[in-house]
Amino acid sequence: MKKTKTASINELLTSKFVLIPGNKILKLISKNVNSKDFDSLSLLWNSTIAQTNANHEPVYPHKKSLVSYYCPIENIRSSGKFTSIEHIDPTTIGDTSYYRIHKAWPIEADNNIILKNIRSFLFDILKGVLNTNNINNFEAMQTAYRVTMNLNTNEDGDPGPEGVHQDSCVVTAISLINRNNLTTSSATNRIWTLEQDYGKSKSNDLISDKLLYQGTLKNPLDTLILLDREVKHEVTSIEPEDKNHSAIRDVLTYEIRIKQNHNIDKESNDEEEKCGQPSRFEALLWEEAEAAEKKKKQGK
Ligand SMILES: [Fe+2]
Repeated sequence: MKKTKTASINELLTSKFVLIPGNKILKLISKNVNSKDFDSLSLLWNSTIAQTNANHEPVYPHKKSLVSYYCPIENIRSSGKFTSIEHIDPTTIGDTSYYRIHKAWPIEADNNIILKNIRSFLFDILKGVLNTNNINNFEAMQTAYRVTMNLNTNEDGDPGPEGVHQDSCVVTAISLINRNNLTTSSATNRIWTLEQDYGKSKSNDLISDKLLYQGTLKNPLDTLILLDREVKHEVTSIEPEDKNHSAIRDVLTYEIRIKQNHNIDKESNDEEEKCGQPSRFEALLWEEAEAAEKKKKQGK
């Protein structure tokens, strides 16, 4: 296990990214883990909901999320109980707000053994990359993303609307949780040199030496780790294999960066955010969205 960890750190330092197959990740984190833990973990993606912008409007409704922050000291949550704020990397291309409000992970997820062990593993990776044991001023932003595409309802299936981008962090990790009804070639992850332009890549870029890697996360917990300051990354759209049904892709991502003050809302509801309470706007929006989803399911 130690050997795999050291080899991963070395590869990360040399190539700026490393791909670790799901079965190896399981071995690395297998202390006290069984298949029931994975099943209960994947159920958490059912509670993802669209993030909102600074005006409390949903952003990317097809890309639902849960976000919470965790610190290396005792591996515990450092953000609020109900909502989390994300500041998007300022180099990102797009016309959406750079300030986002996400639904937080349910509190019981904090003790999920798989999530806990993956965080410990990634904090160890960070120590290796920075060559120090002192990472107490860092934190890991843990995100569940569910991207859905349904051709019949014209749903957008792009997990990366921003195209080529960076995450304003030191280490980014992307783990597959579930691919349901996806064509084999869809949702391809790409790693680019810093010379690649931000935004959607073009066909000419794909034959250039700016493209360092492209591949698809196929099996549960297949994990791509990259050094965000040294490379850029991108993911392509999902496509349903069976065109009559929805395609769904669930991923778990981590962005590890220096601790930020993400609990304070710059908008009118800052007092609520300071107390870790959900903003009234988001609570209402999420309630409406959940009720609509429930109605849709019952109607089937
Ligand atoms: Fe990213």
